[in-house]
Amino acid sequence: MLKVLFIASECTPFAKTGGLGDVIESLPIALRERKIDARVIIPKYSNIPAKYKKEMVHKKTFTVPVSWRQEYGGLEVLQHEGITYYFLDNEKYFKRDGLYGYFDEAERFSYFCRGVLECLPYLEFKPDILHCHDWHTGLIPLFFKTFYQQQPFYQNIKTVFTIHNLKYQGVFPMEILDDLLGLDGSFKGDEGVEFYGKVNFMKTGIVYADKITTVSETYAEEIKTAYFGENLDGILRKYEGKLQGIVNGIDYKKYNPETDPHIYVNYRSSVVKKQQNKTKLQEDLRLPVKDVPLLAMVSRLTRQKGLDLLNYILDELLALDVQLVILGTGEPGYEQALREAAERHPQKMKAYFMFNDALAHKIYAGADLYLMPSLFEPCGLSQLIALRYGALPIVRETGGLKDTIVSYNEQTGEGNGFSFTNFNAHDFLYTIKRALDFYNNRRPIWNKLFKNAFKVNFSWNNSAQVYIALYEDLLTKEEVKGKSRLKLF
Ligand code: GLC
Repeated sequence: MLKVLFIASECTPFAKTGGLGDVIESLPIALRERKIDARVIIPKYSNIPAKYKKEMVHKKTFTVPVSWRQEYGGLEVLQHEGITYYFLDNEKYFKRDGLYGYFDEAERFSYFCRGVLECLPYLEFKPDILHCHDWHTGLIPLFFKTFYQQQPFYQNIKTVFTIHNLKYQGVFPMEILDDLLGLDGSFKGDEGVEFYGKVNFMKTGIVYADKITTVSETYAEEIKTAYFGENLDGILRKYEGKLQGIVNGIDYKKYNPETDPHIYVNYRSSVVKKQQNKTKLQEDLRLPVKDVPLLAMVSRLTRQKGLDLLNYILDELLALDVQLVILGTGEPGYEQALREAAERHPQKMKAYFMFNDALAHKIYAGADLYLMPSLFEPCGLSQLIALRYGALPIVRETGGLKDTIVSYNEQTGEGNGFSFTNFNAHDFLYTIKRALDFYNNRRPIWNKLFKNAFKVNFSWNNSAQVYIALYEDLLTKEEVKGKSRLKLF
């Protein structure tokens, strides 16, 4: 049985701030269903709900070298819905409010990367693949090759590094090279950890991993260009031979309008039942109950998600006969602008600045259109959830949005949503108006599009197979790669 250890800084339902957490939950489940022994390790944050913390079993205490420091390492294990989860415990680093944003982020995640490698012999599970995700785990391929690979237990393990968002890279002063990573000057430079004179965790993952993936094919191409490359496009072009784009899926059991316990009326591609969900949602949110198009957004409220475009056109949009519901948290400036807009248009717009899973499901079920005008979007999960619930996505053609949403084509009748190309507020508004026209004046076409949304499949079915092929490929190339790597160090 192929054994894969997922290493990440978040995983639903334990700790989540965004889509990364969902993927670290749902992909291992999908792999497990395909007979891959996939397990997960994350930090033991104090915010993990108490009911899970109570069930954790302490497995081992060990020491983690963080350069010259000798830190405590605790390995905790929990079985949850058929998956084995490991948690790396150290209260000095992880007994804090929230997941991120501390002064010693470099030290916390240097510790995490070293700690994960130190605890492998105690898992009672020797992974074939270390599958690392985003910058917090970027040092693992480097540490693995430098400190562990030669030891008998660690031989033949391969590393995969997945980029979920190139924007966040983990960039710190060069002093940490010695002080936290315990490495000398030979690791600087283009071929090493260095990025404009600093240490870059994301770049380190890219350079040292055996394989790099990102979460859609389009994003894999985009990040090789200066516009999307966040200054790493050169390095990504250099390593493009080991870079592959694999689109994310969503958990089709969790997001299933036929069985979803959170929504008002269960349905599958039924216009009437969808309408009933909308009516109930309007009642709950104290919006006028009537047959107007209901637009929605469930999102982190950041620049990435195209909030600038939305803000720019809000008043023009709300002058139309529509309703708008927003759910999410994010940058205070965006929250403020949305709050004020909702106050200006109380009969048309509601905005909730919080996480609320049950409400999110109700919104997907009740909405007609789902707005996602992202500036960039590595994959995007909510457009896939929206499709699953028959809320037609309006997206900007970038990254995963481009790979998953096909704009309605009047000639061929194909399409599962609407899209626009340029990051331009009035192109966005124009596209919304185009969609509204079908809803208001050409209902048969609208209903056909609604049915189309249910015909696509973005479960993990395909992508899990692609990951398995990638793992297998990596392991069969073992001999050759092993030799060339030995020469490196
Ligand atoms: C990040 C990206 C998002 C992607 C998610 C999971 O949150 O911004 O596009 O869907 O990671 O890979």
